[in-house]
Amino acid sequence: ALVSMKEMLDKALKEKYAVGQFNINNLEWTQAILGAAEEEKSPVILGVSEGAARYMGGFSVVTAMVKALIEEMEISVPVAIHLDHGSSFEKCKAAIDAGFTSVMIDASHHSFEENVKITKQVVEYAHERGVSVEAELGTVGGQEDDVVADGVIYADPKECEELVRLTGIDCLAPALGSVHGPYKGEPKLGFEEMEEICTMIGLPLVLHGGTGIPTEQIKKSISLGTSKINVNTENQIEFTKVVREILNTDSKVYDPRKFIGPGREAIKETVIVKIREFGSSGKA
Ligand code: G3H
Ligand code: ZN
Repeated sequence: ALVSMKEMLDKALKEKYAVGQFNINNLEWTQAILGAAEEEKSPVILGVSEGAARYMGGFSVVTAMVKALIEEMEISVPVAIHLDHGSSFEKCKAAIDAGFTSVMIDASHHSFEENVKITKQVVEYAHERGVSVEAELGTVGGQEDDVVADGVIYADPKECEELVRLTGIDCLAPALGSVHGPYKGEPKLGFEEMEEICTMIGLPLVLHGGTGIPTEQIKKSISLGTSKINVNTENQIEFTKVVREILNTDSKVYDPRKFIGPGREAIKETVIVKIREFGSSGKA
């Protein structure tokens, strides 16, 4: 069933596991992730960046595809379609109007006052329509589509408290040393801030840059209040590994289903491993 993130994340925070946000790029990505979640009886969040939505032909194409797949695949677990790193009120509104059940407003690169103002506007529009809202403070490192950082800035716990109080968001992504794309060396996550922030705001925390974080750090993050973990790059790497291997070994293959199909299977297997690691199996 198509739902917002609200209930699934509140439950995850209470029961100490995390729901995975897996970003989609196309039909096969969506099939793989929905199939994995259903098999594991896990709630799931389909992350859609603005770039990926453009690639797929627009927000309404995404929602139509997801709804049709939920029906055809007989998906019974809770599914949220979530705008990842929404860049403005207008983009969030467009996604909501097209049927997204959740949005992230990423105004983290603006001043704090501006971030509060934009986030509040999104919350008002979203909540009237039963749509959940995630906001961000600080800077996640690395790059993802249009979101490019030239450094890592840790979120300030006091600002987190204030942002939550002034806006009424449903969950918060405090940047605490995580990076989009592969890490250079071991991630240095700010666990002390993570604990402080979660205790202070009492809301589910979101961890961006889920690719390449060692299992112990994932487990520790969950124990300190992280209830949603975003994964994108890892599925891209595993898909491409399989497709490249087939194309490299078989120079005669031309039917796309012969290499995209196995790539899709690799995504599904990767997502199943993540769901188990995050502890959300059987939580649907
Ligand atoms: O917003 C999406 C995530 O933060 C993805 O991060 O590509 O490093 O897994 P990742
Ligand atoms: Zn992110």
